Amino acid sequence: MTIHLPANPARADVLAARPTLWCNPEYRTGAVSDTSLPVRPSHVDEAQANWSRLAPLLETCFPELEASRGAIRSELIELTTLRDALGYRGEQFGKVFVKADSDLPVAGSIKARGGVYEVFVFAEQLATQEGLLGKHDDIRKLAGQEARALFSTYTIAVGSTGNLGLSVGIAARALGFNATVHMSADAKAWKVERLTKLGVEVVQHEADYTVAVENARVVADGDHSIYFVDDEQSRQLFLGYSVAAYELSDQLRARGVPVDADYPLFLYLPCGIGGAPGGVTYGAKKVFGDNVHCFFVEPVQSPCALVHMMSGSEDLVSVYDVGLTNRTEADGMAVARMSAFVATVMRNMLAGVFTVADNDLFKWLGLAHSTQDIRLEPSATAGFAGPDFLVNHPAGKRFCQQWNITNLENATHVVWTTGGSFVPQEQYESFLEQAARL
Ligand SMILES: Cc1ncc(COP(=O)(O)O)c(C=O)c1O
Repeated sequence: MTIHLPANPARADVLAARPTLWCNPEYRTGAVSDTSLPVRPSHVDEAQANWSRLAPLLETCFPELEASRGAIRSELIELTTLRDALGYRGEQFGKVFVKADSDLPVAGSIKARGGVYEVFVFAEQLATQEGLLGKHDDIRKLAGQEARALFSTYTIAVGSTGNLGLSVGIAARALGFNATVHMSADAKAWKVERLTKLGVEVVQHEADYTVAVENARVVADGDHSIYFVDDEQSRQLFLGYSVAAYELSDQLRARGVPVDADYPLFLYLPCGIGGAPGGVTYGAKKVFGDNVHCFFVEPVQSPCALVHMMSGSEDLVSVYDVGLTNRTEADGMAVARMSAFVATVMRNMLAGVFTVADNDLFKWLGLAHSTQDIRLEPSATAGFAGPDFLVNHPAGKRFCQQWNITNLENATHVVWTTGGSFVPQEQYESFLEQAARL
């Protein structure tokens, strides 16, 4: 199928795989309250309540969560030397932070918020349904022998470019489930190795992510002993991520950073299939309303959210449909076709999408390392282009005009760094070498 994208200032850049910014013409105020959407703001509160109820169990399964009493949280880091290195010294860039999901405990990436959540919620539902967990029972019962015996009769399956598989595999094995991860050809060898060591069955497909997910779904269909974490449609994953917005809100408040009509907040979120950035965006819109503007970021050859949302089509449009290759070193974002569920929810809620070149990902990885000792994998760095696009790109300037953002000095930019702390040292050094060669 060949698709012709509609006229738009970003169109030529997108088709030529040049970094660019597309602002969403369908972006609206108040979109989070749209009752026709398949999710409601109250679901974010429910997800937060679920995380709180599961916290003692998480703490039991993962001793590294002791200090946070079972919460899976990341730091908010203000950029100092890295800010200068990125060229963001001027006051027109307001405040710039990193939300360091790259360092999240349990899975070392933003996927800990979604994958761990979905597996633990499923475990609780299953144990309740099987009469093993009563209403007033201690949730830590799910880490006991009886629960493990039950869970060992089930398999959790997932399709993944790598990090979702890691988070689901780690969570599943921690509770005693069997786990199967269907990996796309982009998956890095160290992620496969780590899962295999945990006793996860890894099925490697010589195909892209969409095909890996489809295969995983086919295997799971009709087999009641397999629970399939469906990255293309899962509400649980989406809501697991969404709760991050409360965490960010607490952190900004604790630092005395206001978010209101005069002090807008911008989030820059690396996007693969869209679940993680979509979930965070949804939560952020619930928490900060129209004072937050969320942008996805994608590799120039894999801008699946951009091309689909720009197309205006009801049917999903893939990057192949517009002649792009889906080839990128950013394995977490090597996705040719976005989630239909996320596309529906984001239609009026997403401010825009920008694209980045692979070389820049490595350059930023090197700078984050050498200035503020922040350890990232290539996908996780993509958001660093955000403040520049917003402040300097013609589309960013038009966006600010349209939304009456006159005082950019008051703005707060949050670059969501989405993975990296689990990267083995040898692999990390090869990333740094690649960065040094640029
Ligand atoms: C490091 C990293 N960043 C961002 C993403 C994008 O998440 P999603 O595919 O849910 O859009 C991924 C996905 O695996 C990832 O591994």
